[in-house]
Amino acid sequence: MMKREKVLTIIGSPGSGKTTTAVKLARTLAARRKNVIIVLCDPFTPSIPALLPAGIIHDISLGYLLTAPGITQNDILNACVPISSSEYISLLGYRTSESLMNYPKVTRDKALELFISLRYLADYIIIDSSTIFEADPTSFVAIEIADKVLKMGTANLKGISWFQTHTPMLADSRYHKDNHLMAIGNLKVGQDWEAVTGQYGGIDYILPYIAELEQQDNEMSLFEPMFAPESGLYQTEINRILLDVFEFQVTQNVISKKKKQIKKEIKKGSFQMPFIKNKGEY
Ligand SMILES: Nc1ncnc2c1ncn2[C@@H]1O[C@H](COP(=O)(O)OP(=O)(O)O)[C@@H](O)[C@H]1O
Ligand SMILES: [Mg+2]
Repeated sequence: MMKREKVLTIIGSPGSGKTTTAVKLARTLAARRKNVIIVLCDPFTPSIPALLPAGIIHDISLGYLLTAPGITQNDILNACVPISSSEYISLLGYRTSESLMNYPKVTRDKALELFISLRYLADYIIIDSSTIFEADPTSFVAIEIADKVLKMGTANLKGISWFQTHTPMLADSRYHKDNHLMAIGNLKVGQDWEAVTGQYGGIDYILPYIAELEQQDNEMSLFEPMFAPESGLYQTEINRILLDVFEFQVTQNVISKKKKQIKKEIKKGSFQMPFIKNKGEY
């Protein structure tokens, strides 16, 4: 039987939208009744406290799973934090006010063991890596075991600096460069995406800055759908990523309806994006 692609690891520069993208990919799959576990690797700035209201019961953390003497599938499932807006999504991550200091050293073998088990526990696994993946064994291993890696960079000098620093670390064949896709994230009006395209060795996706998205982030409602017309541009890219990474086709009429809506909005001139290009132009 052919192995179906089901594990995506997202890596990239700070603030490029890794966590946001992980959530939006997951919610798009969940809206189509696919189970998704989002692994939030970052022990330096745990994401769960920023994604879910305080007080969610969350006894077992990723840190525990990664350092316990043995982990069973049951332990993993117990550590998965459910979210209220979708029964199809759960989160694995560090808890509020935890850090790597709370646990023994995470080893490569433990991380491998966890990821191997995870494959059997959901339709899709989306791994949001630590920005400084080289300092976090879990994130580093996640790049190795992923079916596909989505690299995300901001369209500015900080993003370029991050990639110049981190790309050489991924030269080894165990990181399967051929399975890497590149996205510019959080692209703001006025930022020159064409100028960074060369630096990033080509671009597969552009995820524009969307005010509604930022608002959702501030309101802890990232797992909800977006409604603003310009958000359709963002969602279209999310759908393209799902197609390329998981061969998951978001129902055609959902896309084309959105596209029509976007076209109408563009004609009306209610918003403008500086980078609308035909397929193949970027
Ligand atoms: N496309 C986008 N539109 C608007 N805001 C975004 C977008 N992508 C990311 N952001 C915002 O930028 C900040 C960093 O995003 P985040 O996903 O946390 O990045 P990372 O995980 O790569 O550090 C957050 O405040 C998030 O709301
Ligand atoms: Mg993040």
